[in-house]
This record gives sequence, C-alpha cells and structure tokens, in this order.
Amino acid sequence: MSDVACSSGTFLKALPTLTEYPHDLLSGRHGIVAEEKQGGHRMTDLMIVVGARPQFIKTAPVVKEISSRKINLTVVHSGQHYDPEMSAIFFRELHIPKPSVNLQSGSGSHAKQTATIMRRLEATILAHSPKIVVVAGDTNTTLAAAITAAKLNVPVAHIEAGLRSHDLSMPEEINRRLTDHCSVLLFAPTKTAMRNLRNEGLQRMAYLTGDTMVDSLRMVMPVLRSREADLLKRFKLKPRDYVLVTLHRPSNVDDSDRLREIHNALKHVAKRLRVLFLVHPRTRGRLARIKGLAHSADREFTLAPPQGYIENLALMNNASCLLTDSGGMQKESFILHVPCLTLRANTEWPETLQSGANRLINRPRMIPRETLRVALNDDLRTRITSLKNPFGDGRASKRITRLLESSLQRLK
Ligand code: UD1
Repeated sequence: MSDVACSSGTFLKALPTLTEYPHDLLSGRHGIVAEEKQGGHRMTDLMIVVGARPQFIKTAPVVKEISSRKINLTVVHSGQHYDPEMSAIFFRELHIPKPSVNLQSGSGSHAKQTATIMRRLEATILAHSPKIVVVAGDTNTTLAAAITAAKLNVPVAHIEAGLRSHDLSMPEEINRRLTDHCSVLLFAPTKTAMRNLRNEGLQRMAYLTGDTMVDSLRMVMPVLRSREADLLKRFKLKPRDYVLVTLHRPSNVDDSDRLREIHNALKHVAKRLRVLFLVHPRTRGRLARIKGLAHSADREFTLAPPQGYIENLALMNNASCLLTDSGGMQKESFILHVPCLTLRANTEWPETLQSGANRLINRPRMIPRETLRVALNDDLRTRITSLKNPFGDGRASKRITRLLESSLQRLK
C-alpha cells in the first residue's frame, strides 16, 4: 500500500463519524424529489454521482470494483449530459449499472445547472443517507454534488483530485479547487496532483492512487482492437492517414470569430491530410450559428457526431495526430503513443508535455503548420513510444475501493 496511501496515519482523523451528523439532516425532513417520496427512506453505503461524459468513463472501473464487494452502492445521474451519444452509450459500453436516480438537471447557465443539481441531489442524499458520497473529475456535477454532500455533513471522496491548470477562467478549474477543499478523501492520479494538494495544505486527506482512466482504457483494449478495422472502413479512413479533432471548451467554441478561425485552419490542414472532426453538442450548436460553416464539410474534412468510448479510442489509436482541447484525451493519446496538439494556453496534465508528446498551441493560425509537423513526424512517434506512463498501473480503482471500504468500516 506504500504507493497508495501517502498519509494513512491521519486518514482516520480526517473522517467524521456518523454520530457527528445532525439527525434531522439524515432523516429526510427536507424536500425530497417525487420519485424518492414514493420509494421512502433507503440506506446506502456509497453514493456515486455522475452526470457528464468523462465521469462515466472515470467511474466505470470503480463501480465495477465496488459491485464485486459487499458494499451497498447507489449510482446517481445528474442529467447534465442527456443525449444518447453523450450518456447512454457509455453505460452500455462500459457495463455501468443503470443509475437508480436521474436528477434530469439538463443544460443551463453555470449557476442554474449547478443549483438545479444541488437542489435535487439534496433530497436524494437525504432519502438514501449515504455514508460517503463519491464524485469524480471537475464538471458542474462534481462541484454541485460535493457541496451538497459536504453541507449535509456527508463525507465526500474525490476521484481525480489535485489537478490544476492554474487558470481560473476555466469553469473546470473552479470546480476542481472547490471540490478538493470540501472533500475528506482525495484520490490523486499523479505525483504532480499530490504536490498540488500539498501546496494547498490538503496532504492529510490525499492518497496517490493512480488514474482510473488507465483502468478503463485497459478494460476495453481487447474489444477496441477487434472493432478497429470495421470502424476505419465505416469512416473510409486508413491508419495514420488522418487527424482526429475534438473541441468543446467555451474558450474555443463560444466566440464565433475564434471558431471560424479554427474551422478555416482545419480546412487548410485538410488540403494535405484528412481531418475527422467529432463534433460535441456544444460545438455543434455554435457551428450552426455561424453562417456557411456547418455545411462546409467534404470528404477530406469530415464532421461526425461524438462517438462512444471504444470508437473514440479506436479512432484516436489509428490517427496520425490528435488535435483537442479535452483533458482526458490528452492523457489517452499519451498512453496510446499518438502525438497530441492541445488548443489551449495551459493543461492540467503537464505530464503529457514531456518529449513533445503533447504540445500547447493556443493560436488557431498555428494549427496548419503544427499539425503537419507533428502528424508526419516518424521520429516523434518513436520517441514518445518509449515514454513511461506516469498515470498509473491500471489498478487505481482497486486502491480507491479498498480505501473507501476501510473508511466505511471505520464509519460503522
Ligand atoms: C462538460 C464539462 C467539461 C467536460 C465536458 C465533456 C462543465 C463545466 N463542463 O462540458 O468539463 O469536459 O462536459 O463533454 O461541467 N448538450 C447537448 N446534449 C448533451 C449535453 C450537452 O446538447 O447531452 C449541449 C447543451 O446545449 C449545453 C452544451 O451542450 O448547453 C454544453 O453542455 P454542458 O454540460 O454545459 O458542458 P460541456 O460543454 O459538455
């Protein structure tokens, strides 16, 4: 356990005991959502709250591990992502049990979305009395669930704690900082994340577990290999013959001038290399508002809907390079040894920047030159293939489950 629990001596002290919770907060006297009223009060050991695409991926191996033990688990879906290609497909592909509760929060401004999740989740927590609430990542769902549980004095455990981009203009940076500070169990994926937590005085609650996304990736690798050929055929692609693009950050897609510039840069790349752009719903909406752009795709520049987890990884695995602003895909491409260009000024995954495996390019006009430089560079491929994976050994979910289990025993 030495690689896991960096502060096991203080672990017990960090967790309040159940008897410390105000009774009326646990007995369900506050408003309960309609579906809960009918079901009455149920006790659960752990409640995992998910809601957006990356969370389904991050928690799938943890849910699997927990389900193999004698732990009572309730999965709650906030409803932040609701399109089948953003939600249901991940539950199917990753064999995650259907959530017991869907809060159906849907879209809205940050305050509205976060507040809706908080209001509805409060009732659900009161109805289920979880001993620990588990959250993952840095979305509005993560923050809403962490604050709601913490204010009900229910201990919060955060998977993927300690990441920092040091850019407070990103909603995710606000979410991850605040979530870490109201959690009592922090599961850090990397040594850098541990260092960040230490710098903020949170080391007492921090454990270096590794990254659960490595576990998820390993879980699907055999299926992925078996689907690659069909998938490439479907998109009429050849291995290493195309650039895979995904963009959804507000900083890239909410400003129509910038989005138009990015789109033009991609058209430029498509003169030399095929471009496959998997368009996130946020981006789809923004593209549609810019006249002439949404319909400008051709064979060399293909726009397609977001793909499932396995399809997305298979397309990444065969690309000559990835252009993205996603956090998770920077890491996945690193593990798969696919060169990555990140259209952002910073990254919460600095480990990916070593040896040029990932490069930050914030200016859209750099896209054509940099993409061709990276995509056609065999030396770079060879170099990054030999890099050590700093994200863990694929056993993060086992460590997290063990830590959760021992916390539950202490709470009894
Ligand atoms: C969210 C997360 C981001 C994560 C991303 C992965 C926050 C602040 N951001 O961003 O960290 O990387 O998910 O996808 O939580 N929409 C649909 N269908 C859906 C979901 C969303 O059409 O199933 C549209 C809505 O119109 C919405 C927009 O996409 O306004 C954005 O969705 P939202 O959940 O606010 O954030 P994302 O951009 O997806």
